[in-house]
Amino acid sequence: LVKQKAPAGSKAISPNLFGIFFEDINYAADGGLYAELIQNRSFEYSASDRRDWHPLTAWQYTTEGFGYGTISVETSTPVHENNPHYVVLNVEDEGREGVGLTNTGFDGIVVKAGETYDFSVFVKQLSGNAIPLTVYLKGKKDKLSNEATFNTQSSDWKKYTATLTATQTDDSAMLVIVAKAKCKIAIDMISLFPQKTFRNRPNGLRADLAQTIADLQPKFMRFPGGCLVHGDGLGNIYQWKNTVGPVEQRKGQRNIWSYHQTVGLGYFEYFQFCEDIGAKPLPVVAAGVSCQNSGGTWRIGGTGQKGLSLEEMKTYIQDILDLIEYANGDATTTWGAKRAAAGHPEPFHLEYIGIGNEDKITPVFKDRFKMIYDVVYAKHPEITIIGTTGPFHSGEDYDLGWNFANEVKVEMVDEHYYEKPEWFINNLKRYDKYNRAASKVYVGEYAAHDVKRKNTLRSALAEALYMTSLERNGDVVMFSSYAPLLGRKGHTQWNPNLIYFTGTQICPTINYYVQKLFANNEGDTYYADVISAPVADTAKTFAASCVKDSKTGDIILKIVNTDAVVVPAKINLAGLGAVNTNAGVTVLTGDPMAENSCEGAQNKTPKSSNISVSKSFTYQAPANSLSVIRIQSK
Ligand code: AHR
Repeated sequence: LVKQKAPAGSKAISPNLFGIFFEDINYAADGGLYAELIQNRSFEYSASDRRDWHPLTAWQYTTEGFGYGTISVETSTPVHENNPHYVVLNVEDEGREGVGLTNTGFDGIVVKAGETYDFSVFVKQLSGNAIPLTVYLKGKKDKLSNEATFNTQSSDWKKYTATLTATQTDDSAMLVIVAKAKCKIAIDMISLFPQKTFRNRPNGLRADLAQTIADLQPKFMRFPGGCLVHGDGLGNIYQWKNTVGPVEQRKGQRNIWSYHQTVGLGYFEYFQFCEDIGAKPLPVVAAGVSCQNSGGTWRIGGTGQKGLSLEEMKTYIQDILDLIEYANGDATTTWGAKRAAAGHPEPFHLEYIGIGNEDKITPVFKDRFKMIYDVVYAKHPEITIIGTTGPFHSGEDYDLGWNFANEVKVEMVDEHYYEKPEWFINNLKRYDKYNRAASKVYVGEYAAHDVKRKNTLRSALAEALYMTSLERNGDVVMFSSYAPLLGRKGHTQWNPNLIYFTGTQICPTINYYVQKLFANNEGDTYYADVISAPVADTAKTFAASCVKDSKTGDIILKIVNTDAVVVPAKINLAGLGAVNTNAGVTVLTGDPMAENSCEGAQNKTPKSSNISVSKSFTYQAPANSLSVIRIQSK
């Protein structure tokens, strides 16, 4: 009899073990979760984002019906200094159909017949009388919506809105805005949102994608990165204050993943999304250094300065304190008032903050981390600070990370690993030997990388095996999150991801279903020695865990068998109180090399049924499977 090795008895474990890590990588935000349908809405794309990009990327000059005019990109009197570029449209002859601009969206604009879309634009009249501006959606041949027309009225920037209703469904529509009279006008912030966003939030999130994330029932959400947070140069560090307030006043910037981030999905929207899906917010801020403390020399060339200067650190640390006030301060505080003005007078209940991401543990990093840590810890003892063990999960540099964490006595450290499935299988005992008196652990990024970085069932089951070990060690591992979360097909910088998508499709991977099964079935008490595999040599192919959820009283068994044969798992529930004889079982199984695709015909998804259970029973764990058995208390 080979018993699963586990600390004896039962113990309290983290009730927040399984969450998500959202990073704006692979078009996760713009062109992804952020529901804006117009690409480059404020003409801020540039060659520094991507070599072939410019302020008119995704835009076309439009003159249908023999009109004549010009467009130019200017910067002298913008809507806001953070949003410097705008287009000047000079129409000399409007022709039959007007002259203006067409936007092609992100791989086309997806519209559905009968659905309504909120259009908005900032316009400033530069000369002449009020003129009519017309907007509509069009496809390759036909108009796809009503035409909405409004008259410009102001020689100052003014926002105009209109509603468009799609008359046909199309996944590659375009938005047209044309002036139907001779004019010279400035135009900026041309925006189109579906009226149906997730929870109908204004400036909201794409409903289907947000719902797929919500279905995970993540207990927390780490955001906005990743490497995105520390950027690839000191000037590219993510500055949260640039991401709140009216969208036309936010300051977008080049993203470390080589595209532009509008920050329309900014800190307010992140906090709001966390609240909407019941996830604890876990923002991560840079530790005053950029990627690998390179000061920018790594990719974009830099000044050689490895971290923010000590003078700059003062402002930077104040920004972090202000972030806490933005989240938690009441409406009488400076930053709490800004949150209230944005529509959320109640606090967002921030409990955690991450400082640093995979930073090399050098004196430059250590000094800056400590400066931030000391101030935040002193001023906000109620906030748990999460440090980093650096880019490594073993070896000398990793030890440096842990030595530093021990020296500072940081409450929690963030460890990352992207490894082959075998690594996960060989490391099932990693946390069994962690010092319970030292910092707690957040496994902030991990994924099993199979051949060609495919999201195979084999990789998902390796993660499932490992996740049972996280539950077993849920007294030291407090949080964990697969990474990255999202990838737009055709725009990935990184594979594998948990959820792929296009403009019309949501394509959850098999790994997604593993995360979902664990996160939907969390417990807060772990029971050792409940499940065993009475077959020799299963140490690397079989793992299981038993937890109880004190809210429902349910007992939850997770059984992973990566062997090619069925394994009879012995389950002994003696000592767990009276249980029902009926239980639900959900099974994910298939060919280990199977992968899900957007087409979906052969996709692997979990299947649920009922089984009879008793105090002591045998469960036939299918070959290559994860089974979750949920037994209600009596
Ligand atoms: O998840 C993708 C990247 O991997 C993250 O941005 C970074 O933290 C890690 O190296």
